[in-house]
Amino acid sequence: MYERGVEQIGDQEHRATRPYSQGKCRHMNPTPNPSAILQTAFSFWGSKVLLTAVEVGLFTTLGSRRLTGEELGKELRFHPRANPDFFDALVAMKFLGRDGDGPQSKYFNTPEGALFLDATSPRYIGGLLVMLSARLFKFWNDLPEAVRTGRPQNEVKHGQKGMFEELYSNLPRLEQFMGAMTGLSRINFEALAEKFDFSQFRTLCDVGGATGLLSIEVAKRHHHMKCVSFDLPVVEPIAKQHIAAAGLESRVSTASGDFFKDRLLKADVITMGMILHDWNLEKKMHLIHSAYDALPPGGALVAIEALIDDARRENVHGLLMSLNMLIEFGDAFDYSGADFRRWCGDVGFKRFEVIHLAGPSSAAVAYK
Ligand SMILES: C[S@@+](CC[C@H](N)C(=O)[O-])C[C@H]1O[C@@H](n2cnc3c(N)ncnc32)[C@H](O)[C@@H]1O
Repeated sequence: MYERGVEQIGDQEHRATRPYSQGKCRHMNPTPNPSAILQTAFSFWGSKVLLTAVEVGLFTTLGSRRLTGEELGKELRFHPRANPDFFDALVAMKFLGRDGDGPQSKYFNTPEGALFLDATSPRYIGGLLVMLSARLFKFWNDLPEAVRTGRPQNEVKHGQKGMFEELYSNLPRLEQFMGAMTGLSRINFEALAEKFDFSQFRTLCDVGGATGLLSIEVAKRHHHMKCVSFDLPVVEPIAKQHIAAAGLESRVSTASGDFFKDRLLKADVITMGMILHDWNLEKKMHLIHSAYDALPPGGALVAIEALIDDARRENVHGLLMSLNMLIEFGDAFDYSGADFRRWCGDVGFKRFEVIHLAGPSSAAVAYK
């Protein structure tokens, strides 16, 4: 679904991704045609089919079996009208396999469906899709109001508790949300562990570390590293469980506190995975200052985000993520490598780089 583009940020290669191929085709084809407009205009149809399939547990229900549309529909308690349209739409979008044609043909999970969308798989990312379907799909319907008012369009607008307040008062839902974040972040943390040069460092503190996944991935790959996953107190037991399950208690520990009230723990590397984008500029600067104070000379602040390209022309996902921050928080926003460099430079950081991670995401690094 994502087409990859490559561009330069400073002297760093940065791969931006954009859904669909509109930019390229438009430049190559001198005759204007509406297909890119139409493709994007209708894309929520396909999105909602995939999200619904995950929500009703289609990929988990199939597991490793092959079922006809009638059998699958019955197990999912679908109305007969849904068969075969719903299943074949997923086949056409390549999210489901089907052998043969016609009513006796059988549907089966693709390798990606089995790995990422079957809830029994250790690499399941469906929690994220369920959250998109249950919350963000309807909140994005109020994008016109968001762009006019600059105000959030989530639960807060409807007089309910904010998403985080609600989550933190309900441990099972918090665990579910943390699992969903894992689906989004795992490939980035694996890439960071592979691509960032940890050889000159010994300690890492992951700020807003949630399940401890970043610390776990770094510790798995770099046996000399000791990591601490820092988050709010309510999150600590969840991180402890994940660290124990990975068998890494000797090198990954947890710490808790509030990153706006408490000093950050001293470490050679301070990481922030999708943290800075949750806040307005004043709070972003507070976190960057705190990281600077906690690092030794030569130490690194690493921010992992769907970093927007400097010219703000290419990374569609990063730009949409920033609009999602408007929907969720109002004044929070995503940023480019150049923004990060400017903010960190103002605080005193000396050297910068951007390392592309996975898909639309990158690590912006500032060295003290
Ligand atoms: C968007 S999640 C990012 C999780 C993880 N770093 C990742 O990239 O998958 C934000 C995290 O920040 C934590 N957080 C929010 N406010 C915090 C605060 N004031 N102090 C410490 N942690 C906080 C949340 O509990 C949550 O785990």
